[in-house]
Amino acid sequence: MTQTTPTATITFSDGRREAIELPVMEGSMGPDVIDTRGLGQHGLFAYDPGFVSTASCASGITYIDGDAGLLYYRGYPIEQLAEHSDFMEVASLLINGELPTASEKEAFVGTVKRHMLLHDLMSNFYRGFRRDAHPMAVMVGVVGAMSAFYRDSSDAFDPAQREVAAYRLLAKVPTIAAWSYKYNIGQPFMYPQNRFGYAENFLYMLHATPCEDYRPNPVLARALDRILVLHADHEQNASTSTVRVAGSSGANPFACIAAGIASLWGPLHGGANEATLQMLEEIGDVSRIGEYINRAKDKTDAFRLMGFGHRVYKNMDPRAAIMRQTCHEVLDELGLNDDPLFKLARKLEKIALEDEYFIQKRLYPNVDFYSGIVMRAMGIPNSMFTAIFALARTAGWIAQWQEMISVEHRIARPRQLYVGPGRRDFVPIEQRG
Ligand code: ACO
Repeated sequence: MTQTTPTATITFSDGRREAIELPVMEGSMGPDVIDTRGLGQHGLFAYDPGFVSTASCASGITYIDGDAGLLYYRGYPIEQLAEHSDFMEVASLLINGELPTASEKEAFVGTVKRHMLLHDLMSNFYRGFRRDAHPMAVMVGVVGAMSAFYRDSSDAFDPAQREVAAYRLLAKVPTIAAWSYKYNIGQPFMYPQNRFGYAENFLYMLHATPCEDYRPNPVLARALDRILVLHADHEQNASTSTVRVAGSSGANPFACIAAGIASLWGPLHGGANEATLQMLEEIGDVSRIGEYINRAKDKTDAFRLMGFGHRVYKNMDPRAAIMRQTCHEVLDELGLNDDPLFKLARKLEKIALEDEYFIQKRLYPNVDFYSGIVMRAMGIPNSMFTAIFALARTAGWIAQWQEMISVEHRIARPRQLYVGPGRRDFVPIEQRG
């Protein structure tokens, strides 16, 4: 629970305004927050493009300490969840607030499984896309279109409908993602199988064909499940904030999650895993690392070292450390330990971590630096990397959307610092020029 005991005072050096006293809120962990809501009454607003110093909400879901490199879901360290839990349990934890008991987990998993199938007419949507459409483009469209099919769970203000929508989203997004790839390569859509777990089902729908038996490799399914756990939530990042802002108007949940997918796609956010792999392929050889490090440091060059840096982590991203370990396990299992791209990534990481520019700016590898290599080794095509991130993050988006609607709900409506022209009179077209 937050308290509002201490206060902060803003004074104005020009003496034209009286000092303003603002409450300071204390979270259960992490930095205090100055409650600036009252500024508007004084004709003032806080200015913070990119939300660098803004807490957009109070949330009880995910905690990050960027200096210490800590990530907790509902209080549980990510390392413990990655080792001992699984994605279904983590999704239940994020959405419902507590780790499920055995019977609660069974019920949760059973309900998700029952919802994995798509309305059969939804397959028609795919035919409207070009064959080479990016899976994320297809996902934005098809997830958004769920609101046209599942209208009985689209009322954001009805808790019962919200719950059904949550299950539908969590269950159907893997099917939607896998089908977007099947459509790309011209193979028939594969239906989910209730005998498989969540990650296994996704691998099945991605790789199986009706022509032969396919059993997902348990080591790879476990690795994918861990990727899903690591990506499940990350407090108020760009896509989550997008979901919250979209949902704050009372928009239906399917449209809100589609908005989150659109935001996630950007190369500075979830698109970074695909971009990292492209970058590694472009570098191609350890002998060219220096050239790319120099480009990343050159302010006249737009190139950035993809998979490096984070708005919040100014230390090792704890997810990256787990992902590096998973990378070893997957490459071991597949006998790919001499994978040249993995070796290149290790070398690049080492050189960057010892470089003064990266040290001084506190730029460390983020989760996307290794996740692309793991997924590539698993036979997952590059174009699906961000789609997998999206299906994992759907759990967090749902939890955050639910929290936004049910706690402190207010339409998101920021203000601005206006820097355009002052009032001026309309000029008829013949007098302009
Ligand atoms: N390579 C080179 N320089 C970098 C990098 C990088 N990857 N990241 C940041 N910098 C530099 C910036 O140029 C800037 O330098 P300056 O102070 O001299 O202008 C300084 O470090 C701070 O960077 P900002 O862009 O201001 O930091 P911000 O918090 O706005 O951005 C971001 C964070 C977008 C993640 C950035 O580090 C980046 O572009 N990284 C590469 C893309 C990436 O890996 N994204 C994945 C993020 S994790 C996720 O979404 C799962």
